[in-house]
Amino acid sequence: CQLDKLAKAAGLQYFGTAVDNPALNNQGYMKIARDASEFGSITPANGQKWSNTESSQGRFSYGSGDAIANIAKQTGQQLRCHTLVWYNQLPGWVSSVYSRDQMQRIITSHIQNVAGHYKGQCTHWDVVNEAMEDDGKYRQNPMYRAMGIDYITHSFKTAAATDPNARLYYNDFNIERCCNAKINGTLAMLKAVKAAGAPIHGVGMQGHSRVGKSPSKREMKETMALFSELVDEVAFTEVDIRHTKLPTSAADREQQAIDFLEVVGACLETKKCVGITVWDFADQYSWIPGQYPGEGEACLWDKNYNKKPAYTSIASLL
Ligand code: XIL
Repeated sequence: CQLDKLAKAAGLQYFGTAVDNPALNNQGYMKIARDASEFGSITPANGQKWSNTESSQGRFSYGSGDAIANIAKQTGQQLRCHTLVWYNQLPGWVSSVYSRDQMQRIITSHIQNVAGHYKGQCTHWDVVNEAMEDDGKYRQNPMYRAMGIDYITHSFKTAAATDPNARLYYNDFNIERCCNAKINGTLAMLKAVKAAGAPIHGVGMQGHSRVGKSPSKREMKETMALFSELVDEVAFTEVDIRHTKLPTSAADREQQAIDFLEVVGACLETKKCVGITVWDFADQYSWIPGQYPGEGEACLWDKNYNKKPAYTSIASLL
């Protein structure tokens, strides 16, 4: 039985995956990606990011994002949208020095256009991504430099006004394992922007981690309990668990299965946890080897599209 079907039966709203444009012409891959019983939700891995949607100011392009969104339209899968305001994959022009008012207009226009284009299609939007540093301080990005934390509040308000039906998320990494400076900083940030009127519905924990070193179910449940005090829902949004040493042994792959189970178990045992998205399901298209040379095999299917032990264990837990 497939993952989304099982996840729904277990009380979650979806089990999803990221899909990136280079994979679209791979038939073996797409057969799995388009299987709505396996993945009830898909997320463009890159297509909706600022560098893809507004690489020069005021000129919007939706080709890459639409290619993924169209799959969801055809299959009936949900579309989990990612991401409107992020310091990375940000076109150079946004990094110029702007006044508060100028930056506010830039963000307004970006969100009105991009979230407007996808209006009604996105079940969720990662409105702001990775605004915090590991030490719990605000990340010094061009938006923060111009507007302080008001850029976060403003982004959520604009997204809510543009697409009132999407669930609006704050999304970040290293906020899974309770409790660290980044989680404390994130909680403080959420309180501050909510007090300023930001309509935040959810917190997304990306969930990138390493085999044998990933957070335990107990640690993640503790974190989610804290976020649950502030928002309506939480989710794992970009799960992959990479091996740091390749090639892997059977024992390594069993450990990976155990690590994935902790994530799925934590979500199942948290009332407000609505779903889990993996950051691609097949090793061939995972971002990990590109980002962390020598590491990889972080997904549920291997390069020959065989299910790994991690898949089988998740399916039996769900
Ligand atoms: C990654 C993509 O998967 C890569 O293809 C791209 O080169 C870099 O970004 N956190 C996020 C995602 O929020 O957007 C990132 O996606 C992975 C880390």
